[in-house]
This record gives sequence, C-alpha cells and structure tokens, in this order.
Amino acid sequence: MEGRNIILIGMMASGKTTVGGLLADRLGRALVDTDALIEHREGRTIPAIFAQDGEDHFRALEQQTAETLSHQTGLIVSCGGGLPLRPQAMAPLKESGVVFWLRRDPGATYDSGVLGDRPLAQDGRAAFLERFAQREPVYRRWADHIITDFSSPEATADAILEVLEAGNSSSSTAPT
Ligand code: S3P
Repeated sequence: MEGRNIILIGMMASGKTTVGGLLADRLGRALVDTDALIEHREGRTIPAIFAQDGEDHFRALEQQTAETLSHQTGLIVSCGGGLPLRPQAMAPLKESGVVFWLRRDPGATYDSGVLGDRPLAQDGRAAFLERFAQREPVYRRWADHIITDFSSPEATADAILEVLEAGNSSSSTAPT
C-alpha cells in the first residue's frame, strides 16, 4: 500500500474532499482535489470554465490533471464527480492506487442543500437522481471498494481506514 495513491470517486457533494482531508490528517499524506487544482491552474472557478468553454473543455482539463497525478505517489486524490466518466482520465489514476467509491444516497445529498453552484446540479432533484442512476455503473466499474457509511465524515473516513488496514495486514501475513 505504502506509496499507492488513495483515490476517492463519487457523485458531487458526496464528501470526497471532506473525507479526504480527514484521511490526509490521519495518514500524514497530502490531499489533492482535482477541482481545486484545475481552478488554481486556470485562475477561474469551475462554473466559469463551464460557462465560458463548456463541459468538454472542462473534461479535457480534468483528464490532463488525472494523468499528471497518476505519475505521483502517496497522495489522497479527491476526484471531481464526473472524472470517472472518461476512461482516459480514470484508467491511469486507477493504475496508481486504490479506488474508493463514496456511494452516498443522492437524494440525501440533494436534500442536504450542499450542491451550491455546481453547474451540473442546477436542474432539480429528479435530474440529479437521474444523473446518479446513469453514473452508478461507471462508479461501480472503477471502484475497488464501495463505502456506504455517511453517518458522519469521521465514520466514512474510518470505514476507508478499516479497508486499508485489512489490506495491509492481509498482505503482511500472506505466504511468501
Ligand atoms: C462535476 C462535479 C464537480 C465538478 C464539476 C462537475 C460532475 O466536482 O468537477 O462541477 O460532473 O459531477 P465535485 O464532485 O467535487 O462536486
């Protein structure tokens, strides 16, 4: 596990960056949020990129970012919710580490009112649920592990740490 990246995927506002921050503290690793990196590099917000250049351009930026990060090690990577839609973006990242899908209930996410100005969450609850339904097989395809405890960010982080610890102990006790 040592240097392998820990990669968090899932729908918008499912807690990837919050949980990623907790994991980073607990494991002494750096957290990289692909959205934040893109905004920093571009010098503009995600809504501005969507409004000025469209979703395809944003996806291309996301792909470049994913490729760059896949050459690094020891990171916690919080992926933008749509990053796994492009195999060219997700495949290299998956190669670089272990992928956790934060499968938070989309209705609960929508109802918690945390979607803010995210461009792809402005069409109401039914459209958000439909988007989740379309993406679900994609997230499932990439996930090494599926996390379903969203009782608190700490509980979600603990669930991930348990998986990581189980993986470490099984590899250390594996026959040689
Ligand atoms: C998107 C999710 C957002 C951001 C952009 C598009 C998506 O990231 O990348 O608004 O397509 O699901 P978060 O998952 O961090 O909200």
